[in-house]
Formats: sequence, structure tokens, C-alpha cells
Amino acid sequence: MSKQIDRRKLIKLGAATGLAIGTGRVGFAEDKKKPFRMAVVGTGNRGRYLLSLALRDKNVEVPALCDIREPNLKQAQDIVAEARGKQPEGYLKGPKDYLRMLNRDDLDAIIIGTGMQLHAPVAIAAMKAGKHVLSEVSGAITVDECWGLVRTVQETGKIYMLSENCSYWPEVMMVQNMVDRGVFGELTYAECGYVHDCRFLMFTPDGNLTWRGEMGRDWPGNNYPTHSLGPVADWFGVNRGDRLVSLVTSATGGNPALMDYIDKHLPKDCPARKIKFKANDSSTTLIKTANGGLIDLRFDIHSPRPTAGPYYALQGVKASYDSTLGEMVWIEGRTKGHKWEPIANYKKEFEHPLWTKLIDKARGTGHGGGDFFVIHQFIEAVEKGVSPIDVYDSATWSSIMELSARSLAEGSSVVEIPDFTEGKWKIRKRRTV
Ligand SMILES: NC(=O)c1ccc[n+]([C@@H]2O[C@H](COP(=O)([O-])OP(=O)(O)OC[C@H]3O[C@@H](n4cnc5c(N)ncnc54)[C@H](O)[C@@H]3O)[C@@H](O)[C@H]2O)c1
Repeated sequence: MSKQIDRRKLIKLGAATGLAIGTGRVGFAEDKKKPFRMAVVGTGNRGRYLLSLALRDKNVEVPALCDIREPNLKQAQDIVAEARGKQPEGYLKGPKDYLRMLNRDDLDAIIIGTGMQLHAPVAIAAMKAGKHVLSEVSGAITVDECWGLVRTVQETGKIYMLSENCSYWPEVMMVQNMVDRGVFGELTYAECGYVHDCRFLMFTPDGNLTWRGEMGRDWPGNNYPTHSLGPVADWFGVNRGDRLVSLVTSATGGNPALMDYIDKHLPKDCPARKIKFKANDSSTTLIKTANGGLIDLRFDIHSPRPTAGPYYALQGVKASYDSTLGEMVWIEGRTKGHKWEPIANYKKEFEHPLWTKLIDKARGTGHGGGDFFVIHQFIEAVEKGVSPIDVYDSATWSSIMELSARSLAEGSSVVEIPDFTEGKWKIRKRRTV
């Protein structure tokens, strides 16, 4: 079985459920240091999985957890009780009960694992209550929320990190290392997308909407931009020497694939059948960068197809990379002949140093090891006081959701992308992880 197929399988399982594939227990803080006290708001699939990874660090303590659904909260409490021998306090008194939990003075950080609609409100409240934040993707729904996150980080000085696990895939990081070391030369073009049939995650069995279904009801554009755009933005050095300037979005007319699913799989007369969904089946957003780069960003969570998850391609003046061909690369002056070769051929020379260092601990965790990295990097970010995927990245990548909808509403108009760094993109240093 090829590595590509392995990874696809991994992504399909992980992206759908947020669960790990093969969770051999490996602690990542060997020494007992100062306790790192965290809580989770939203203990669904993703929240529980990130929680279980965090507990592999011996210094992590979890005094409290919050959800609105008792079974999810109970499962998360059991995970902590099994790992630490003590049940954390549960907060279950309705949709705003996280505010009561945030009043505790024994918490350093919050992981946010709710549906997307709550990420920014919870993150802002948490930072204002003095807690660092690791937020699931996307960071926010609207541009106003993006600015709210930026201003709150500026005012509170708290660490905010977007939990973008795709930024830590081995090939993504290897390409980053190659870009940083000049292998691609100047970057000109990238193609990326999130194409994953997620219709089954949009509805409950009785035909009500999950938070994903509500997103489809309310938003017509790219509702899940960060998995695909995040790695590409890092390759281009977005917010660190380059920036996203404008976009144009075009979409298929309506959502026949979504309707087909509802027709075939949901009960007659269920609520979903009466809803007019704004989401289109497939959309493409073209983004221009300040340095002249062009990014083609596709989004489709409705169309039936066997493969799943994000894909990436990158073009520089000296090299080209394409994940859809099976993780292939072509490097001028190095690749023999005019044909693709596996990027794995360059692993020894270009594997990212962070991967080389932590590979044993990351291996076996969800999303190609990326899930381990987001937790590891978040804890390290709080220790060091610098976030690797910070609020400017989160705001820039997440803003595509509202901006793509705006472009569609105006007949595929050109829409400006705000500079959330307010000019600092020119002097901010490139990050390598
Ligand atoms: N990084 C990844 O690879 C990846 C994969 C899957 C999902 N996600 C993201 O993770 C997030 C959660 O996704 P999921 O699949 O775990 O969803 P989920 O529905 O399984 O979990 C969401 C949880 O939030 C809880 N919740 C809702 N409102 C709440 C409130 N007011 N207070 C407290 N808890 C509340 C729900 O009861 C549920 O337990 C989403 O934002 C999604 O985009 C990321």
C-alpha cells in the first residue's frame, strides 16, 4: 500500500471523526515541571481527542471541562479520570456556562472544541479572563470576529494559537523547509483545496442540523478555509513578508449534491427538508498576494467522491510540488529528466528539523501526526511566549469565509482582504514551524 493511500485513509478517518489512528501512549514532557492547567470547552469528537493528546504530557492538569451535552462531557471526564485518577469538575448548565468556568483561577489555558460558530466568542471571553487559547479551526466566522480576536490578543497579551494540524503534516513541513532554503526560488502559484464529502456530518439521524449543517444553511462561500490555505499561506510567508491582498470567488449554481443526499438519506418530513441551504456544492476562490503570488483555493464538502481532505500544489520558478500526484516534486537541476519524482527522495536532506526531532512522539497520532504537533507547539508557545500560528494567521485565513460569501453576493466581485497585521507583515520574521 502506498504512502499516499495510507495518508488518505488517515485523513478520511481523522477528518471525519477527529479521532486518532493508533494511539500508542507516548508522553512528551518527560520531566515534571510547573503544572500546565487546562480546560476544554466543547468535549465532542475533536475536543476529547485533543484532550487525550494533551494528557500525554505529564505536566498537564485538567481541573474542569465544559459542554452542553452530558454524554460528551462524561466521556471527557472519564478520559481525565483514567489518566490522572481524579474527575474534573463539569460545567453543563447551558450554552453560556463556559463563562462560569472561565472565572476559575486555577486554569492557564483553554482548548476550544465547539462548533465553529462559537470559536471567536469563547476565545475572546477566555483571553479576557486571563487564559491562553488553543482554538479549533476556523478561528472565526466573520471579519468582525477576526478583528475581535486580534484586538483581544493585543489588549490581553495572551497566547492564542489556531489548532491548524495540516500545517504540521510531514510533507507540508518538508516543502516549507525547501521553500525556506531556496529550492523553489520565487513562489508564483499554489493550488489547494478542502474536498471531502462531509454531508453525513451535517445532520442528525432524525434530520436536524448539526453545527456543520447550520454552517451550510447560513454561508454560501468557503466555510472551511484554513486546512487548505494555512500551509500555502506559510509557504508564501503570508503575514511575514507577504500578505493576502484580494480575492474573487465563484461557485456552482446551488447545491444539487446536498439535496440528493437529503433526499436519499434523511427521513420524510424532517426539518432539514424544509430548509433552504445557502451553501453551494463547490466553490473556488482566487487569492492574490502582495508579492504577486496567485492561490487557487477550492472548497467542496458536498460532492460524492472516494478521496477526502486537503490537497496542495506549489509552483516556484525553480521547482514544483503536487500532493495529488502522490506527493511528487520536480526540481530544476536536480530531478533527472522532465518527470515527477517522489518528494520522499529528498527526505534525508529536507525533512523538517521539527519532524526529525519529534517523529517518534508524533507518529500514530491523528492527521498524519499533525494533531500531536498542535498540542506540543501550543504548550511550548505558552512557555516561550510566542505562538507559531498566531492571531494574525488565524484572522487572515479565517476571514476568507465571510469575504468569499461577500464576493459571491456581488456577482464574483473582487473583495479586499484586510491586513490584520496593520502593516507589520513587512517586518514580521518568517516562521519555519
Ligand atoms: N483540525 C481538524 O482536523 C478538525 C477535524 C474535525 C473537526 N475540527 C473542528 O473541531 C471543532 C469541533 O468539531 P467536532 O467534530 O468535534 O464537533 P462535535 O459536534 O463532535 O463537538 C462539538 C462539541 O461542542 C459542544 N458544544 C456546543 N455548544 C456548546 C457550548 N455553548 N458550550 C460548550 N460546549 C458546546 C457540543 O455539545 C459538542 O460536544 C469544529 O470547529 C471543527 O471545525 C477540526
